[in-house]
Amino acid sequence: MDAIPVDGGITSEASNWVFDEHVAPHFDEHVRKSVPEYDRVQELAATFSDWFTHNGSTVLDFGASTGETIRRIRERHSKTLDLIGFDNSQAMIEQAAKKGVDVRFQDLERLTKIPAFSYGVALYSLQFLRPQARQRLVYAIAEAIEPGGGFFVVEKVLGSYPTTQDIIQQLYWDMKIRNGLTPVQVLNKVHALRGCMYPKTIAENEAEFRAAGFSQVELVFKDLQFCGWLLIR
Ligand SMILES: C[S@@+](CC[C@H](N)C(=O)[O-])C[C@H]1O[C@@H](n2cnc3c(N)ncnc32)[C@H](O)[C@@H]1O
Repeated sequence: MDAIPVDGGITSEASNWVFDEHVAPHFDEHVRKSVPEYDRVQELAATFSDWFTHNGSTVLDFGASTGETIRRIRERHSKTLDLIGFDNSQAMIEQAAKKGVDVRFQDLERLTKIPAFSYGVALYSLQFLRPQARQRLVYAIAEAIEPGGGFFVVEKVLGSYPTTQDIIQQLYWDMKIRNGLTPVQVLNKVHALRGCMYPKTIAENEAEFRAAGFSQVELVFKDLQFCGWLLIR
């Protein structure tokens, strides 16, 4: 199978998008072209930690990639925090290590024992888990979060209706092209993601969060196909 160009130095294979050594060194740049309001979301993730951390708190990042979110939370606080990320890409873990961020090798589809934590994030990562494994993880996260703790999750979502799904998807592709990606690169990424991403509608996401035990499910961010919720048990 030939490699298909996705952005600058990034290549992939069709229906086999992985966060490997072809992606990780360019990830921080690529994600800003591919995800609307990426820096705003990172800022929210860091800011929410003000409410949900105290001296000695554990903060977990599920799908931490290059450790950008943890780096920002670390820089924000003088409190002593135990900051741990999980990811199953060795190449991402190496990028995080360069920032001095502790990202541990862990397949989230097999993560069953989660340490108690007061604040957690899963930014653009649950969407890559197969539905049954994702559900298991969301339930385990709700179980492990301390009373009064908070969890910020951001996902690519499907539109709630066929017509609006078509419109927001096309607007998303327009945004990528405005950000400098070529139409061929945009389509190549679509091909690369086939069978690798399992987005849900807003209603499906919220039903899963509530079923897992989160009683406060607040939609705090939305831009076209991207939504963020602050969840409290
Ligand atoms: C879009 S990136 C997340 C970006 C990051 N949270 C941020 O805000 O910059 C998705 C991450 O999830 C990780 N991932 C995907 N499937 C995984 C799995 N089964 N176990 C662990 N990590 C996974 C990928 O390696 C990748 O680093």
